[in-house]
Amino acid sequence: MSTVTTIASEAATTATKVLPSGPAPPATLVIFGAGGDLTKRLVVPALVHLVQAGKLPDEFAVIGVDHNEQTSEQWRQNLTKITQAFTQAGLDERAWSWLTSRMRYMPGDFTQSETFSRLEKLLAEREEQDNTSNALFYLAVADRFFGPVIEQLGHAGLTRQSDRTWRRVIVEKPFGHNLVSAEALNAQILKVLSEDQIYRIDHFLGKETVQNILVLRFANGIFEPLWNRDHVDHVQITAAETVGVESRGRFYERTGALRDMVPNHLFQLLAMIGMEPPISFDADAVRAKKTELFQAIHPVSPENAVRGQYGSGVVLGRKVRDYRHEPNISPDSATETYVALKIGIDNWRWAGVPFYLRTGKYLSARTTEIAVQFRQAPYALFRDTPVERLPANILTLRIQPDEGLSVSFSAKRPGSEIEIDGVAMDFAYRDYFEPIAAVGYETLLYDCLIGDATLFQRADTVEAAWRAVQGLLDSWARDPAKDFPNYTAGSAGPDAADRLLARDGRAWLPIRADHPYKAIRP
Ligand code: BG6
Repeated sequence: MSTVTTIASEAATTATKVLPSGPAPPATLVIFGAGGDLTKRLVVPALVHLVQAGKLPDEFAVIGVDHNEQTSEQWRQNLTKITQAFTQAGLDERAWSWLTSRMRYMPGDFTQSETFSRLEKLLAEREEQDNTSNALFYLAVADRFFGPVIEQLGHAGLTRQSDRTWRRVIVEKPFGHNLVSAEALNAQILKVLSEDQIYRIDHFLGKETVQNILVLRFANGIFEPLWNRDHVDHVQITAAETVGVESRGRFYERTGALRDMVPNHLFQLLAMIGMEPPISFDADAVRAKKTELFQAIHPVSPENAVRGQYGSGVVLGRKVRDYRHEPNISPDSATETYVALKIGIDNWRWAGVPFYLRTGKYLSARTTEIAVQFRQAPYALFRDTPVERLPANILTLRIQPDEGLSVSFSAKRPGSEIEIDGVAMDFAYRDYFEPIAAVGYETLLYDCLIGDATLFQRADTVEAAWRAVQGLLDSWARDPAKDFPNYTAGSAGPDAADRLLARDGRAWLPIRADHPYKAIRP
């Protein structure tokens, strides 16, 4: 979290980290996977936005590395068109020419040491040209290359730092396929790099609204006293998507919704809601609290989990085929495209408060949100009134789309009788703040350049997250689902997910992209 919004109270500044908001220090960004989707759709557009915001220094350069033979000019030309589509509010020609004049391409095989010798020469040229040896290596490559590329960087001496030079590596998701492979990858890369050189990305933390959760919780006096098992009944975390597996069949078929979304993205949301207050925004202070939370998660058992796979249906008015008929998917696939979990956190703050998590492809609406449902008020006072049920207060944090938050509460309907209606106070980002052109990677890239690892995963954090779901992964692998497909594309997911909550006397909030509280009535 690099830039810090002014907080009214002076006292609050002790808890905020004041970091440079100007340009990052001189550096070279080396992108492995320069021809890939991630580079085109997210990394390069984010760089353009950083240029526009004045966050990159004059002494900045990008070296793109990939298997394809092409010239720097061809690489830049290929990127121009696609960047036009992905930068928001149109491509700023000045920013684009500033950036492209600093971009060059180097064809190379990531598994060959010769590639890294050539890279070393290019970095030496950068030293002569801009007097900087700082380098950020971005592994925008398939996960099987993470270990090998880092080993090659190490062999070539490219990860060596000095008093005036830093070398850092960004590792993309997925970080491991399970606990054992995550541990092995950590062990492999920690032979070459020290922990503070490794930036394990989870792009959910690049979302402004996710970062805001900590400020909401800890810079406001009204929430924290209620943020515990005495007042919170349960929490629902939803990441519903209206996309299907699309062209990612090969990856998705061996991954599934649990691995793809839970120990990473959904757990990041869980951490923001559940962690204890860190003593500062320092990377280690924040990451220690997150890790403790993950370590306190009760390993998820199959009885507290529901898996689903979409059948054919209609999503946002479009007819779509079932998962098993998607490209590169087995006709009898047992891969889940939906998962719902009940999670327990064994600590003093949360013992006994269930956290219900759900995510799925091809659901009825696209929405990512967290709903904190508070305990109900005692009913006695209303026994002799027509009020049959008191609605619970719910604080909903809308992560996307329509970023904002709402608090629902009960109000008396005007009239002579005591009748209660559920109403909401709503805050929408767009009503208060100018939208910032962003694809979600801007803060993350800038933070790597200034050396702030707050929003990145530490080795033990990643491992603790895998540990919490490993038993479930094993159990599902041993016992493939027999009822797939079990939800219709365009629906809210499998019926079993409703039963998971019904058994506790609770229900999911509706999945909808607009404000949910209009639907809540006593
Ligand atoms: C990715 C997953 O990490 O996150 C995708 O691999 C998923 O399957 C995506 O669709 C969701 O991210 P966002 O930012 O679109 O909500």
